[in-house]
Amino acid sequence: MPTENIIEITYLLATALFILSLKWLSTPATARRGVFAGEIGMLLAVAGTLLYHGIVEYKWIVIALVLGTIIGIPLGEVAMTAVPQRTALSHAFGALCVTLVGTAEFYLRAPNVPPFMMAVLSMEVILGSLTFTGSLMAAGKLQEILPQRPITYKGQNFVNLGLLGVAIAVAGVLVAHPEKMQLFPAIVGIPLVFGVMMIIPIGGADMPTVISLLNSYAGLSAAAMGFVLQSKLLIIAGALDGASGFILSVNMSKAMNRSFTNVLFGAFGQEQAGAAAGAKETRSVRSASPEEAAGILAAANKVVVVPGYGMAVAQAQHKVRELYDALTKRGIDVKFGIHPVAGRMPGHMNVLLAEADIPYDKLLDMDEINGEFPQTDVALVIGANDVTNPAARSDPSSPIYGMPILDVDKARTVMVIKRSMGAGFAGIENPLYYLDKTLMLFGDAKNFVGAIVRELAGGHE
Ligand code: TAP
Repeated sequence: MPTENIIEITYLLATALFILSLKWLSTPATARRGVFAGEIGMLLAVAGTLLYHGIVEYKWIVIALVLGTIIGIPLGEVAMTAVPQRTALSHAFGALCVTLVGTAEFYLRAPNVPPFMMAVLSMEVILGSLTFTGSLMAAGKLQEILPQRPITYKGQNFVNLGLLGVAIAVAGVLVAHPEKMQLFPAIVGIPLVFGVMMIIPIGGADMPTVISLLNSYAGLSAAAMGFVLQSKLLIIAGALDGASGFILSVNMSKAMNRSFTNVLFGAFGQEQAGAAAGAKETRSVRSASPEEAAGILAAANKVVVVPGYGMAVAQAQHKVRELYDALTKRGIDVKFGIHPVAGRMPGHMNVLLAEADIPYDKLLDMDEINGEFPQTDVALVIGANDVTNPAARSDPSSPIYGMPILDVDKARTVMVIKRSMGAGFAGIENPLYYLDKTLMLFGDAKNFVGAIVRELAGGHE
């Protein structure tokens, strides 16, 4: 079979695997298969590309593969809590690659670049460059190397959009006059600066949404590169990446009840911290010991566990599994209520609970579980805060008003494991803690759940 056909077949298989991978990734039960399909698809795509007859020298490719492997292996081993910044770094590498390929293609073809080719090439390098620096900034903020605080000044949006406008205008001139080669560095340089300026006004805590948007830009720039290189595989893979990144960002914004413009231009983190500092709470709360908590759980028929960011910080998921086992052994119905933005990244809770082998069918999405809280004896909140805050339903002045929440306050008893009365991501008070039916279980999530499990093993019926 001619090499061209082999390449086409590998690309076709890779494309099918990318599509299946996204489909399988949409539910925890098939997510592992989805990751595997994506990996095989990528392997096939790389192998097919290596067969390309236009390659005259493999030396540089081998050096790049070795370098990529040296960087990639440690990146794959970072802690779960560092996955957002790791993902941002991957986008930065992808975007840099797209920009370099686009630049090389321009200088190989110039000054004879047809208008359509110049238009997609410009889109490729503009999106690639701004995604490169934007992703590096996002990774820096998440890793706390850069300040988390949004930095804003008057007329900032005007300056930023103006910069992007200039880059697009220069691209327009190049489409009409590709022989003006001296203009090309501007459509790389200006977006590089724009990428930095775009991230400066966004608070560190909003970075996961921003990363998913940058993911979408990286995909679109790869699709544009597909048109430049006339590769259907790249066009399809880039479009899948662009569309899925965009849908994810929209879903994340919706679950936080924020508009895109609010995430991108709202300087969210700063305002919330200010609001929290202003209002000091004086009401008292009721607290309980592990022994009391174990007694209440043992007397329940139905328990809904609501995990949040604190469970991830404490790495309490394995202790939570032990608690699940101890309660189900007593015939208690135990389910998990999962909020779409619990934790700090999409699917954060699902991944942690899957790691602890908690059955998938016990993990219920917010819309599925909310109807069950009125029949629930105990809602056990483990390191979650904002996603349970009833102010989102009842207080129009609350910054999270309108955000869909888990209705834990409708359960007969609510128990909340957290270390203090400290606020969550949104930096605001949670009226849930002051309800008569709420018991605060103060302590680290892993230690407290472990203590409850020990009490249950001690024979509290
Ligand atoms: P948060 O509202 O951030 O609350 C987490 C709580 O965990 C804190 O109040 C903290 O209280 C407690 N905690 C921290 N370490 C702990 C430990 N070792 N043991 C026990 N408790 C601990 O979390 P959430 O309810 O999961 O809500 C997520 C928030 O992040 C939402 O506001 C959401 O909009 C935002 N967000 C999410 C995402 C995604 S995609 N998931 C992306 C961006 C933003 P103490 O300090 O008192 O312990």
